[in-house]
Amino acid sequence: MHPVEICKDVYWVGVVDWDCRDFHGYMTAPTGTTYNAFLIKDEKVALFDSVKAGHGSEMLCRLAHVVKPEEVDYLIVNHVEMDHSGALPELVARTKPEKIFTSPMGERALRAHFDCADWPIEVVKTGSTVSLGKRTLQFLETRMLHWPDNMATFIPEDGVLISSDAFGQNWATSERFADEVNRSLLGKQLDRYFANIVLPFSPIAQKTIETIETMGLDVRFVCPDHGLMFRTPEDVAWVIERYKELAAQKQKKKAVLVFDTMWHSTERMAHAIASGLMEQGLTVKLMNLHMFDHSDVMEEVWDAAAVFVGSATHNNGMLPKVADMLTYMKGLKPKGKIGGAFGSYGWSGEAAKDIAAWLTDMGMEMPVAPVRLLYVPTHEQLAACTEMGRTIGKLVADKLG
Ligand SMILES: Cc1cc2nc3c(=O)[nH]c(=O)nc-3n(C[C@H](O)[C@H](O)[C@H](O)COP(=O)(O)O)c2cc1C
Ligand SMILES: [Fe+2]
Ligand SMILES: [Fe+2]
Repeated sequence: MHPVEICKDVYWVGVVDWDCRDFHGYMTAPTGTTYNAFLIKDEKVALFDSVKAGHGSEMLCRLAHVVKPEEVDYLIVNHVEMDHSGALPELVARTKPEKIFTSPMGERALRAHFDCADWPIEVVKTGSTVSLGKRTLQFLETRMLHWPDNMATFIPEDGVLISSDAFGQNWATSERFADEVNRSLLGKQLDRYFANIVLPFSPIAQKTIETIETMGLDVRFVCPDHGLMFRTPEDVAWVIERYKELAAQKQKKKAVLVFDTMWHSTERMAHAIASGLMEQGLTVKLMNLHMFDHSDVMEEVWDAAAVFVGSATHNNGMLPKVADMLTYMKGLKPKGKIGGAFGSYGWSGEAAKDIAAWLTDMGMEMPVAPVRLLYVPTHEQLAACTEMGRTIGKLVADKLG
C-alpha cells in the first residue's frame, strides 16, 4: 500500500483494480484497470481525483504514508464519473477539506450525484489558478472529453499534467510508468481505451492537444486517471503523438471483417472476402462475434480503412450480436470508412440489406452492393465474395498507397 513518488512531493496514491473485467458495464477490460489519484505535499496539501466506491480505504491507506488524511487541505475533482468520485463521500468525511475545486459542470454533476450541500465546493474555470505555496494549479476545462465536467490540471513548476480520462488505458500492472512496460502492449491499451470511450469526441481531443501546444505548456509528466503514467521526454512525446493519430483516426491499409453465423455460411463468405482484401495487400482482421465483443471490434476499427459486417438472416433481421455491435459502433462515430455488408439467408434475407442501411447511416461509403446468398455458398458465390474484397481492397490500396 505504498504511494509512488512521481517527482518531489508529488505522489500517485491510486488503486489497481486487478479484478475489473467489465468497465462501466459496456466495455471489456481483459487486463483490469487502475483508478489513479494524486497527492501533492506543499504548504497546502492537495489530492486530485478519487477512486471507485469500495476502494477508498486502500487509497487513504496509501495517502497516509505521506500525510494524515486530515492534513489534506484541497480536493480537486477533475471528473465526477463514479470511477473517480465513488469514494468522495468517504474522502470528504475523512479529510474534512478546506476547499473542493471543480469546474462549473463539475459542480453541477457533484450536486446531482451526492448529498453535498455542506461540501466547501469552489468553482474554477479554464485559466483559474490556485496557489499551493511553492506550486500553482492551472485549470483547463476539457468539456466533453468525455463528460461535460472533465477538466485537466497543470502544475507548471513540476510540468505535471493531471489529464483525467485523456491519455488513460485500462491496464492493471505493478508498474506505474510507461518506461517500465512494453510499449507496444501499452499502445494497444491506449488505443482500446480511446476507441471505446474518446472516439466520438476526437475533435475535442485534437483541440485540447492544440491548446496545450499553443499555450506552450512544458509538460514533463502526463498523469492520466487510468493506467500508466508518462515521465520521460520520449514517452511524453510518444503519447501525445499517438493521441494525435487516434484523434485524427489515421487509417492503415487495413480491413476489419466482423460477422456472426449459425451454420458457417456467412463465415465462409467472410473468409472469401478476406482473401480478396489480402490479395490487394491489406492487413485483415477477421472477428467472429462469438470470440470478440464490441469493444474488441472497436479497438481494431478505429484505424481500419474498410469495415465489413456480415450476418445470417435470423427471424427477418440480423443476428443479435451483430445488432449489438452496430448499435455500439454507430455511437462511437468512426469516420471516413469504406463499408461492406454480406450474409447468407434461407428465405427472406433481410440481414445484409439491413446492415448496409446501418453502415450507410454511419456515413460509410458503400461502393459494392450487399452480397447475399441462399443457404450454402457455391464456388461461384465465394468467388463473387472474393471479388468484393478485391474491389474494396484496391480502393483502399489506391487511397493509402
Ligand atoms: C432460428 C432461425 C431463424 C431464421 N430466420 C430466417 C429468416 O427470417 N429469414 C431468412 O431468410 N432466413 C432465416 N433463417 C435461415 C438462415 O438465414 C440460413 O440458414 C442461413 O444460410 C444461415 O447462414 P449461416 O450458415 O451463416 O448461419 C433462419 C435460421 C434459423 C436457424
Ligand atoms: Fe470517465
Ligand atoms: Fe475514468
